[in-house]
Amino acid sequence: MLRIQRALPERYAGADPDDLARRIARAKAVLGSEVLILGHHYQRDEVMRFADARGDSFGLSRIAASRTDARYIVFCGVHFMAESADILTGRQQQVVLPDLNAGCSMADMADIDAVEEAWEALGRVTDIERVLPITYMNSAAALKAFVGRRGGAVCTSSNARAVLSWALGPADGLPRADKVLFFPDQHLGRNTGYALGYDASDMAVWDPRRDLGGLDDATVKEATLLLWKGHCSVHQRFRPEHVHAFREQHPDGLVLVHPECARDVAELADVVGSTDRLIGAVDEAPPGSIIGVATEIHLVKRLADDHPDRTVVCLDPLVCPCSTMFRIDAAHLCWVLESLVEGVVVNRVSVDEDTARWARVALERMLATT
Ligand code: 13P
Ligand code: SF4
Repeated sequence: MLRIQRALPERYAGADPDDLARRIARAKAVLGSEVLILGHHYQRDEVMRFADARGDSFGLSRIAASRTDARYIVFCGVHFMAESADILTGRQQQVVLPDLNAGCSMADMADIDAVEEAWEALGRVTDIERVLPITYMNSAAALKAFVGRRGGAVCTSSNARAVLSWALGPADGLPRADKVLFFPDQHLGRNTGYALGYDASDMAVWDPRRDLGGLDDATVKEATLLLWKGHCSVHQRFRPEHVHAFREQHPDGLVLVHPECARDVAELADVVGSTDRLIGAVDEAPPGSIIGVATEIHLVKRLADDHPDRTVVCLDPLVCPCSTMFRIDAAHLCWVLESLVEGVVVNRVSVDEDTARWARVALERMLATT
């Protein structure tokens, strides 16, 4: 998806880090409780140090929903997170994303046209009333609304299990649905499916570039979980060889993996969980532990810095940062805050009322389920 971030004026782009830090602190102090800065765990330290709350995408969406007093929510994360915050907050609140080009390549792998086409195709071979769509939080508001309109729900990496259990679990004595179309991350869907006791024969990958997802009628009819062929380019880099190499070097080491990693990596892990869950696992590990983590590098480095009595390493020594999360830097944060001090709201992310209404239904189903 194309979003255009205009270049920052020189007083931001050319400012030195200390100057930016001073100016951010000053603007934040002037704005006081009018502004709430939210920081996803993958943000750089130069941004994260100014966050009023840190969290995973689920935790931050809850905080955004609960802080009805903040007039401006500056979301240091990516576009779908800012959209979700806008959907969950009141009309009097405005959500700002410091760099509009901070998207999510995985979220962009499913768009509303492709999902509508898939739904139509599915309806030609199966009873569509018995299919529930579930979208990962990492998706555009239009997809959340699609799901909301059709009785489905949003999920995040911390509650995918609860949401899928709800979708396929009992409702008035019958399973709520026979089948789930899960998008856009096949890996989260597959890892969650296995965690719930399904196996490979219950799941099929839906390739949106091919007729009927590249499947035959019988496979579509039989599958319980249809997994959209999307992935996260950061988490897909982790391979079983990384886990084997770590375990060889550290036989008593602990392996922590985000569920956006492929199944063959997740099945080798001691803990598979959202960013908050991975942080909790490092906190709980005894001093002296050696911990290999498969997730974005800024979080891994922060975990290492925050736990000097434990050794925390990234399982892939060559892993790159999430390039879109990385776009939010001190200069962009300073620019949006100083603009707010001047009474100008830049980079507002807002979702139209009809989309927001149905997306809220899907998000609230998630919140009620977990
Ligand atoms: P969390 O839900 O764990 O915050 O993950 C979001 C994300 O984008 C991970 O790549
Ligand atoms: Fe999207 Fe992957 Fe970046 Fe998360 S780490 S925001 S899923 S591209």
